[in-house]
Amino acid sequence: MAELDVLVVGSGGREHELARQMDSSPNVHKVYIGPGNAGTALLSKGENVTLQPTDIEGIVAFVRDKKVGAVIIGPDAAMEAGLANALRKAGVPVFGPNREAAKLESSKAFAAEFMTQHSIPQPQSWTAHSEQEALDIIKNKSPDTYVLKADGLAAGKGVVLPQTAVEAKATLADMFSGTAYDGAGKNGVVIQERLHGPEVSAFAVSDGTNFVMLPFSQDHKRLKDGDQGPNTGGMGAYSPLPENIVSAAQAQKIHDITKQTIDGMKAAGTPYQGVLYLGLMLAIERGGDPVVIEYNARFGDPETQVVLPVLSESGFDVPGMLLQAAKGDIAGIAIPSKLNVSALTVCVAVAGYPEHPRKGDAIEGLGTAYHNVIVQLAGVKKNNETFVANGGRVLYVTGLGKTPDEAAKAAYAAVGPHAIHFKDMHYRTDIGHQIRTT
Ligand code: AMP
Ligand code: GLY
Repeated sequence: MAELDVLVVGSGGREHELARQMDSSPNVHKVYIGPGNAGTALLSKGENVTLQPTDIEGIVAFVRDKKVGAVIIGPDAAMEAGLANALRKAGVPVFGPNREAAKLESSKAFAAEFMTQHSIPQPQSWTAHSEQEALDIIKNKSPDTYVLKADGLAAGKGVVLPQTAVEAKATLADMFSGTAYDGAGKNGVVIQERLHGPEVSAFAVSDGTNFVMLPFSQDHKRLKDGDQGPNTGGMGAYSPLPENIVSAAQAQKIHDITKQTIDGMKAAGTPYQGVLYLGLMLAIERGGDPVVIEYNARFGDPETQVVLPVLSESGFDVPGMLLQAAKGDIAGIAIPSKLNVSALTVCVAVAGYPEHPRKGDAIEGLGTAYHNVIVQLAGVKKNNETFVANGGRVLYVTGLGKTPDEAAKAAYAAVGPHAIHFKDMHYRTDIGHQIRTT
């Protein structure tokens, strides 16, 4: 393969990992990241460029001007804005679905209808187009038996699990007002049966026809240890998942659901190219069968920070897969069936995250190399030679090992007063508690 320049679109920890992977490829000459962050700027072939993910004209012009050979898109907002459509139209290999395929994420009503049409297991759901309609649907239900989902992208905040009828009503009023939840919900709210059981994040990379399943992972959404506190963008993750979390039979069912989705999108004339992220619940109510809680049209964050290292540290060519998928043909790609690496990432956040993040504290300990650790930066800014916390979720400390315990040990050894730290930082001490023995 001839050397080429690539552009990674986005600026989070996920994009740092995507860019780090591209940086490692002998076939890649230069990695532009738009807009990138303080971490991507440090990559040996990396160069941050001032491009915003939804600036379609700007990105297409940049790609033409610099003769960029492939674009890897991180954030969902770029998919919804049609960045992949524009790049495909311009003849540029792009990793990421077109807007029509990304509707699996951007419209929960579309996703629910698609799943009904293809008999894909999902929670029972009702779509309300007005506040009154929604109130009628919940009238005779106990509030702890359903969840409320604003129809539209809401930066991960559009799902509410109400505890009381008062809270449910207030949430519906907010969602339909269009002022809360980034305007999502104004046109509709999905009311969903509330399920229980372990959650699984499954990523499938597809060229529209073929797909490969990446190792499964598990996110930790709650802010505090013991899965307490508010939902966040994700406080940590690990991969792969052992058999006692996902059995071979459950894995096969997840594979079948993925195939139905990829085939269904192709049959509808909107083939899905890029990574399809299935947020699943192994529902106790359904005898442990996987149920699709949500589709996402992108890599998950922080799951990417563990899934890609598991693959690359097992000797698999991650950048090769992403480039092949961007070109539209992954037929020859196989994920190794035996992975001998475990990865576990700990998200370090600022005090006050998620509601009132406090920015500006200097981060210590980033200059040191830690054994079996990768650090992915997200909300970090560089002031002269100092790294400064500049966002809610600041960075991810990812440990690697032969076992989950080893991976956890490596990660946690690199966070704390004698390692990576800043004033009043917050992180969970129990990431991977589901599988750790230490
Ligand atoms: P999301 O922002 O869509 O990832 O949803 C946030 C979290 O809400 C998920 O990770 C689940 O823990 C929870 N959730 C969403 N839908 C359901 C459901 N139908 N039943 C139970 N929990 C749910
Ligand atoms: N890890 C959750 C998300 O990326 O939406």
